[in-house]
Amino acid sequence: SPLVLEQVNPYSLVADELSLIGNRLREMVAVEVPKLASAAEYFFELGVEGKRFRPTVLLLMASALHVSTLPESVPDDLNRSPIDVRKRQQCMAEITEMIHVASLLHDDVLDDADTRRGVPSLNVRMGNKLSVLAGDFLLSRACVALSSLKDFEVGTLMATVVEHLVTGEIMQMTSTLQRRYGMDQYMEKTYYKTASLIANSCKAIALLANQSTEVAVLAYNYGRNLGLAFQLIDDILDFTGSLDSLGKASLSDIHLGVVTAPILFAIQEYPQLEEIINRGFDDAANVDLALEYLRKSRGIQRAIELAIEHAGLAASAIDSLPGTDDENVRISRRALVDLTHMVVTRII
Ligand code: FPP
Ligand code: MG
Ligand code: MG
Repeated sequence: SPLVLEQVNPYSLVADELSLIGNRLREMVAVEVPKLASAAEYFFELGVEGKRFRPTVLLLMASALHVSTLPESVPDDLNRSPIDVRKRQQCMAEITEMIHVASLLHDDVLDDADTRRGVPSLNVRMGNKLSVLAGDFLLSRACVALSSLKDFEVGTLMATVVEHLVTGEIMQMTSTLQRRYGMDQYMEKTYYKTASLIANSCKAIALLANQSTEVAVLAYNYGRNLGLAFQLIDDILDFTGSLDSLGKASLSDIHLGVVTAPILFAIQEYPQLEEIINRGFDDAANVDLALEYLRKSRGIQRAIELAIEHAGLAASAIDSLPGTDDENVRISRRALVDLTHMVVTRII
């Protein structure tokens, strides 16, 4: 019944596979250099493995697409069984998580962060040099896993994602220096930095299941809009959250001179805020002044509305998938839609 469907927790639907993937990630980073191994394992240890948001999305997407859009008579060109397809999709979820964690290890060095997931970040525990190498190591392992899939298109997609991650980070860094930054550039940067990984790995899940181009585009659109909503909320929480609730420091963006959606909307209401931002945030009084403007503006509210808009677009991509009577497929689609609500209300 619909009532039961609404009560399913998206994470519990894929819990078994998530722990399988967790085990494999821990195994995969056990190499000969003990120091590097412990650094790389750091993020996959039980308890600090994070929300596993991306693997959850990808496994649910795999289940949500588990319906043939091709005529029965057309076999998979490599004659893969559904079990093989699922294993390859699990591998895709592992690759995505490794790329994500690699980017976080580098990010914490760039941001000079001291806390991540409620514990001291790796750069604090082991220093910047080992953190960068640990990130490189994970990225390399992701590449090895990716090439083992022997899928040219998926390989190209994920290589482009890594390029996007770096592009987004550079855009953010240079815009900080130039102090010129509009809403359009912010959204473009946000796509590169966050949404591209989720969007293209969702697309890869569809491609690995030999789905049609139309279905692959819907999977991509889901990931793209979910990712944009996710980062918008992340940027809002940087203002509204606390160290305890976030597991990382709040107000970090403004202290790094990074201008995000709430401030950009506040500038539209109070153009004099731009002048304050141009002065930089080395002076604590300037930070307070900017926060004061933000507080009396509708900046936070408008950023939430934008996140809700993208969450809605993600949900409608799922609703546009070809119809199905398969109960499991329907439950997974429902869970993907539920995730769009959870992202904007952050119960995760
Ligand atoms: C977190 O943003 C950072 C990212 C989403 C991407 C970081 C990408 C790089 C450092 C480029 C290098 C990439 C690879 C694959 C090695 P944030 O700082 O706004 O979030 P936070 O508050 O969680 O730190
Ligand atoms: Mg950071
Ligand atoms: Mg950063």
